[in-house]
Amino acid sequence: MKIKVSEGSVLNVKGDLLVVNAFEGIKKPGGATAVVDKKLSGAIIELIKSGEITGKLGEVNLVHTQGKLLAKQVLVVGLGKAGEFTLDRARIAAAAVVAEAKRIKAKKVASIVHGAGVGGLDIKPAAQALVEGGMLGAYRYNGYITVKDDSFFEVEELNIVEQDAKKIGQIKAGVRLGQVVGESVNNARDLVNGPANRVTPTYLAACAKKITGVKVKVIGLAEARKMGMESFYSVSKGSKEPAKFIVIRYGKGKPEYGLVGKGVTFDAGGISLKPSRKLWEMKIDMSGAAAVLETMRAISKLKVRKNVVGILPCTENMPDGEAQKPGDVVGSLSGKTIEIISTDAEGRMVLADGITYARKLGVKKIIDVATLTGACISALGDAASGIMGNDQQLIDQLVEAGRESGEKLWQLPLLEEYKDYSKSKVADIKNATEQGMAGPSIGGLFLQLFAENAAWAHIDIAGTAFLGKERGYLSYGATGVMVRTFINLLTR
Ligand code: BES
Ligand code: ZN
Ligand code: ZN
Repeated sequence: MKIKVSEGSVLNVKGDLLVVNAFEGIKKPGGATAVVDKKLSGAIIELIKSGEITGKLGEVNLVHTQGKLLAKQVLVVGLGKAGEFTLDRARIAAAAVVAEAKRIKAKKVASIVHGAGVGGLDIKPAAQALVEGGMLGAYRYNGYITVKDDSFFEVEELNIVEQDAKKIGQIKAGVRLGQVVGESVNNARDLVNGPANRVTPTYLAACAKKITGVKVKVIGLAEARKMGMESFYSVSKGSKEPAKFIVIRYGKGKPEYGLVGKGVTFDAGGISLKPSRKLWEMKIDMSGAAAVLETMRAISKLKVRKNVVGILPCTENMPDGEAQKPGDVVGSLSGKTIEIISTDAEGRMVLADGITYARKLGVKKIIDVATLTGACISALGDAASGIMGNDQQLIDQLVEAGRESGEKLWQLPLLEEYKDYSKSKVADIKNATEQGMAGPSIGGLFLQLFAENAAWAHIDIAGTAFLGKERGYLSYGATGVMVRTFINLLTR
């Protein structure tokens, strides 16, 4: 979808569809909607009176222009109550518009920015949200289907129209940001939706190498082992698919931020084999790595003024004659030893070496992101990611960045009391407990040991990385969660 910004009146807009809006409960429209309504001899007011247009969030109503406007059809999108409008509602409205445009096969869509008037939003973030919602809403995973049907129709152009010349600069800035964000999120969704036989560690390394403006180092398994990453090695050694420890550096000098993403391209559980029901879903276990990779691409494009390193320990977790076993004791890059209770608690093992790698680079703030625990899905479902850590300021910043981006983060505690459960008789720590309580926190406490004195936050996206049912501007499948939050955090 091509996105452009034009200065001028909505009355001069050509194309298939011109989008205006209505807040819930209004009697007559204002702004650009009123201008369009006048030209349509009051057709929109009529539809409001008759109750067809209610202004409910995401409601769409088509109005034929009968030659009265240059655009073929007008679409009135509902924004909900004016007093309740938010950036996320702007995304939802934009996605509803794109869905309707797809349905009626409108190729060229023009829209005003929603919510910057009565809605009370600043124009730049409102424009950004419009583009994000449009792009995220337009996304579909095409996969490897060879027979294309109607459902493959794509909107060709989104033209954002603004009459006020003074606002154009801000709109363009918001649109640019929204476009980079939208692209990165959708790329991450493609990676996560992609099957594990194609989205391998080698493939992720190739993706990283295609990012411009960054330095990429790909460490193979033999070298990782030599460097002392025994924890990462131990998870990998049971699979034939070559593991890759990928390091992406942006900016010169010591990185301020280190993003560590779990890159398990398929999690069979290892010797602690998972049940076969929905096992295919474990292709999403590299969602953390995908989020980090796409964040790195975005910040390089946006030329942010922060030094950031992305660390992606990528491997499969498979059962095999050479696979690690429950009861094994392994070392790690940090020197700490780990007793393996469950080979299915592999995420924390690859992250442990990733976090230590970040620490050794002198990173001040480490954020790891991982589809770490099924228990996080039980606790928070699929509408909020779990966040925990040792630095409240970093956590608060992430929660706030997530709120603005439309990605909910819910803090879970790292209770001292639970440290006991991970105590091992033969190593410094166990990778899992027998009690099975407080799963997300037990995972977090394990990682905390490796973060040591760095400021660190851990984000569990097990529930949010993949939706079983569409919600708002997100369709079924991979969500690309945390790309938006990370870009927002790093562009502040
Ligand atoms: N990749 C899984 C967690 C997961 C489950 C992500 C469902 C997305 C959907 C992780 O590696 C895992 O297996 N965790 C175990 C930890 C346990 C052994 C301590 C779990 O959640 O059962
Ligand atoms: Zn697992
Ligand atoms: Zn896993």
